[in-house]
Amino acid sequence: MVVESRLERRRIGARCCGEGAKRVKRIAKRPSTRSVLVMLLLALTVVLTSGCGVIGGKIASTSDPAGDQARLIWDLFITPVWWLVIFVFVLVTGWILINIVRFRRQPGDTRIPPQVHGNQRLEIAWTLIPAIILALIAVPSTRLIFELNRDPGPGSNALRAQVIGHQWWWEFRYPEYGIVTAGDLHLVVGRPVVLTITSHDVIHSFWPPRLAGKVDAVPGRAHTMVFTPEETGVFYGQCAELCGAQHAHMQFRVVVQTQEEFDAWVAKLRRPIPEPPAGSLAATGQQLFAGKAGCAGCHQVSPTYDPVTPINKTLAVGPNLAYIGERHVLAAFTDNTPEELHRWIASTCDVKPYSIMCEKWWRIRAEQNTLLTTEEVDAIVAYMLSLQ
Ligand code: CUA
Repeated sequence: MVVESRLERRRIGARCCGEGAKRVKRIAKRPSTRSVLVMLLLALTVVLTSGCGVIGGKIASTSDPAGDQARLIWDLFITPVWWLVIFVFVLVTGWILINIVRFRRQPGDTRIPPQVHGNQRLEIAWTLIPAIILALIAVPSTRLIFELNRDPGPGSNALRAQVIGHQWWWEFRYPEYGIVTAGDLHLVVGRPVVLTITSHDVIHSFWPPRLAGKVDAVPGRAHTMVFTPEETGVFYGQCAELCGAQHAHMQFRVVVQTQEEFDAWVAKLRRPIPEPPAGSLAATGQQLFAGKAGCAGCHQVSPTYDPVTPINKTLAVGPNLAYIGERHVLAAFTDNTPEELHRWIASTCDVKPYSIMCEKWWRIRAEQNTLLTTEEVDAIVAYMLSLQ
């Protein structure tokens, strides 16, 4: 038997340049330690990346919709796509498993199986079947695309807001009320919202996974997103278009409130922000903010603006800071706490390298040896927190 297979190997080798014989030897080997390690590493990667849906303790899953648009998209995925996917998965994996078991190499068998090149019938079948499946999925998908983002019209009670992407933070304007904010988008539960989305620099993508799908924020264009939030709460959002070094840190939160809570928030933003008491730490911070620290060069502290300002016109270089202490997100990614605010001002380039505040403010001050002292940062933090 051994002699026979050696002869067989030599015969194959003679016929096709020795490669076949080498391959037979290689096939007969057990899996190497290296390939076992690679497989283990791959398995570990799958396990680790499966945790990516949870960010900052808040689940950003599309499978738990809290808005009508996200729900319609999820429903479309479950029926028919999910069942089609399961059907194809069972069919393909089942067929592979049957063949692996049935045609596995028998001990001592070193023959090369018949080599097949081209099978027209098979090729037509595996081109046609997926094409038909995709065409079937395309019908409800296309219909839904046209249904979503349909503007409810001027007669409706829809809330209208503008979303502007910047490298790397989100600005939100409410022309109806003449107020502007950043980081947190406030909406009303059960009330449709019409968002006009654009960008002031590169292409971004606005995506609140539990509430709606993705809409690209493109400079020079205004795209619309329409949805109705169905639950109150704070919902996580993320830029979904690679837009530079801090793309991953271009997040936002959607604060869905009752109409009363939203009205109270709007009323508060429309009132002038109180001045900090004279002689207080916050008052020192205010002086630093407007003077020596140079914050006012990029940031505004009044949340009101002229509502006729076109969406493509920049209001300020950096985010508006009014009521920053009440926001959920700081620097467009981290949880907003006084400690984080302190860290952001004191070591900006550690927190968010390549950001404008790092490159155009912190780094320049570091080079000129004019960084703020801990006491000065404390005063600015106190002033920021007093802006409410
Ligand atoms: Cu903005 Cu990614």
